[in-house]
Amino acid sequence: MYKQIGILTGGGDAPGLNAVIRAAVRTAIGEFGMSVVGIEDSFEGILGETHTQKLTRKAVSGLLPQGGTILGTRNRGSFVKMVDGVPFFPEMPIGEALANLDILGIEALIVLGGEGTLAIAQQFHNRGFPIIGVPKTIDNDLAATELTFGFMTAIDIATEALDRLHTTAASHDRVMVLEVMGRHTGWIALQSGLAGSADVILIPEIPFSFESVAQKVLAREKAGSRFTNIVVAEGAMEIGKSEIYSDEKELRLGGVGDYVRKRVEEMTGKESRCVVLGHLQRGGSPNAFDRMLGTNFGACAVRALASGETGKMVALQAGTIITVPLSEACANIKTVAVDGQLVRTARDIGISFAAPKELRPDD
Ligand code: F6P
Repeated sequence: MYKQIGILTGGGDAPGLNAVIRAAVRTAIGEFGMSVVGIEDSFEGILGETHTQKLTRKAVSGLLPQGGTILGTRNRGSFVKMVDGVPFFPEMPIGEALANLDILGIEALIVLGGEGTLAIAQQFHNRGFPIIGVPKTIDNDLAATELTFGFMTAIDIATEALDRLHTTAASHDRVMVLEVMGRHTGWIALQSGLAGSADVILIPEIPFSFESVAQKVLAREKAGSRFTNIVVAEGAMEIGKSEIYSDEKELRLGGVGDYVRKRVEEMTGKESRCVVLGHLQRGGSPNAFDRMLGTNFGACAVRALASGETGKMVALQAGTIITVPLSEACANIKTVAVDGQLVRTARDIGISFAAPKELRPDD
């Protein structure tokens, strides 16, 4: 049994990170008699002059509803470099980090992160350091787990935004475009679009045609609905084009919502507005589901370490928390099935994805 374990959070924050930390600390101390060190600012906290904090039961008291992460996080750090678009893990920082973990007396790590952070965790495992990963992303695009915490809270926020846009769109007879997060996948757009009664949902998995979007807006007009709500994932693409970046150098997506707004206004003559929901989807308190999932993940991650597992990630499958190899978790992202049930349901109730083949006489 380990005497002392470490825990860190990496990548973009997500509501529920603190719930995982709290549960991991309570389980490690209460159930297994381990002590816990929090590593600050992702893996960066174990480089140079290390920065860590002792996590006692008192230190995690009251954390469950708190957004963000008390440990701080970093999107990019020293552990991974991109070479021609392919991640490369230089030897140096990992060697230094392993030496520092030894000095700090940290015998195993729980790493909370998305695919990028978990790929770094995998490098530690490859060098024989015990690691358990906890999947985190509001985009819900990690393979091997049905859900990640933070996603349901993001859906709540995006759904509320759509509800609010609905009334102002209807009052002004406007087209409202809501841009939501979702770099490679349209889970937030699709599920909030269904819950928030969007008329058009644009996702990266289904490249869209402006003719089809305009046709939907005009068909609604003809049928007496003189407003349209469109939800677009930040990574959605027009057919034959690529994603839109607000910062090409940093590969930061953004701007597709306003692009859609402009083109739809030109093509339909309808006054249109765009709202970018941005980091409101990530900030603030986790909803009940994400608190519950985060708590479960935190406790199960410690239990997995305590029973000698390593190189694994906790995952939700069929309502149960299991562990899967980290390599499996990082291998692929989970995309929306274009012919899956959620897309079919959306189409059944008249939501358009603006794919050209969707052009129907009544659309
Ligand atoms: O990975 C989650 C995510 O929310 C993406 O949808 C988005 O592109 C990205 O993070 C933005 O992160 P940041 O502003 O922290 O770079």
